[in-house]
Amino acid sequence: MQGGIPLEGRVRISGAKNATLAIMAACILGQGETILENLPEINDVEVMMGICRDLGGEAVWLEPGTVWLRVPDTIGCKTPYQLAKKLRASNLLLGPLIGRFGWAEVALPGGDNIGNRPMDLHIKGLSGLGAALKVEHGYISGGIVNGAKRLHGGKIYLDFPSVGATENIMMAASMARGRTIVENCAKEPEIVDLANFLNAMGARIRGAGTDLIRIDGVRELGGVRYSVIPDRIEAGTYMIAAAATRGRVVVENVIPTHLQAVTAKLREIGVIIEERDDQVYVDGRGEFRPVDIKTLPYPGFPTDLQSQILVLLTTVGGTSLIVENLFENRLRVVDELKRMGAQIKIEGRTAVIDGVETLSSAQVKATDLRAGAALIIAGLMASGETEVACVRYVDRGYERIEKKMTLLGAKVRREESNG
Ligand code: UD1
Repeated sequence: MQGGIPLEGRVRISGAKNATLAIMAACILGQGETILENLPEINDVEVMMGICRDLGGEAVWLEPGTVWLRVPDTIGCKTPYQLAKKLRASNLLLGPLIGRFGWAEVALPGGDNIGNRPMDLHIKGLSGLGAALKVEHGYISGGIVNGAKRLHGGKIYLDFPSVGATENIMMAASMARGRTIVENCAKEPEIVDLANFLNAMGARIRGAGTDLIRIDGVRELGGVRYSVIPDRIEAGTYMIAAAATRGRVVVENVIPTHLQAVTAKLREIGVIIEERDDQVYVDGRGEFRPVDIKTLPYPGFPTDLQSQILVLLTTVGGTSLIVENLFENRLRVVDELKRMGAQIKIEGRTAVIDGVETLSSAQVKATDLRAGAALIIAGLMASGETEVACVRYVDRGYERIEKKMTLLGAKVRREESNG
């Protein structure tokens, strides 16, 4: 890509990757047909559809953004390593498989590039509902014990508000006998979207979006038609890209309240942001100031936008600090940014960024999905031509990123050999 061109125009945000993956997993709980709308056309969704088919279900695209799914009364309960390794979120099949069929065997994708991702909270939660699980030979497997047909409700306190653990417990508890209370649960908008979807299927979930969720189990869940929320991380990425290139962009199809921490930090930096009904206008032409940022569970600043805002701060005069509290390897992108002239020191989980005048172009390599997006932003800021390798990571979570960037005036093209 050719850097130095301010992004200008309008960009439309796709459906939320993380809500979609959880909701697709939840389809396992439903009898009948489900139609999901506003889905992003990204690789992770294709892989989840592949897993659904491999288990014995059906999943097809009806039209762009719309998928039809059906899971019959008997399916396989084992997700093979070949598929699970491509998708970290395959661990979300655990709760629904045990909830409806009483048993699950899910290959553990292992730690990925953003760091060690343990499953202890998922196991603790499902055990609290009457499942016995073991981790052996790279699989996490188990199910309902003592000859019971259904899981039972329980009171579960999460030591950390894990998104995935909250989702797995919510899905499993939806079909359990009795009431489940989850304390200190995650509050992300994707949790609320999953709860709304489950409730549309017939579940009885209250409190999603707060730190206490109550689930009254039901015997059966049905198929529905449901439209997924917009992707706040994709939206935040374009907001940051607009600011970083000192451009002016209208980001469309967003829920501005989902982006409050990001909007607040961008304003602190000096970016002008106007929130409209389902749009956000970003103007990055003013004076920028350094800031300190800590990643936190929602409503704090999202770890999934940390690499992107770090890139923006590399050219903001003065010293900024970023503390990454969720995934330790997310600061790996710094090594690539240094190759582009950024001045950043890493001390443990903290990045100390000394703003430079401009970044310079280089050949760099994406190390994970969000790092890939961040490096594309860096390339758009830098003088000269930048090449980002391993963009396949970016395709996992961003729909047609080069097309959307091109519509905003960026000079960017994909080379097939790039992977
Ligand atoms: C989800 C998102 C991911 C996002 C992350 C945090 C999906 C598909 N992915 O990932 O994009 O970056 O939330 O917002 O929705 N932890 C434990 N034990 C566990 C589970 C998690 O210690 O059993 C720790 C993790 O190591 C991490 C923290 O909890 O430090 C947050 O992880 P979690 O919220 O579970 O993230 P994911 O659901 O994997």
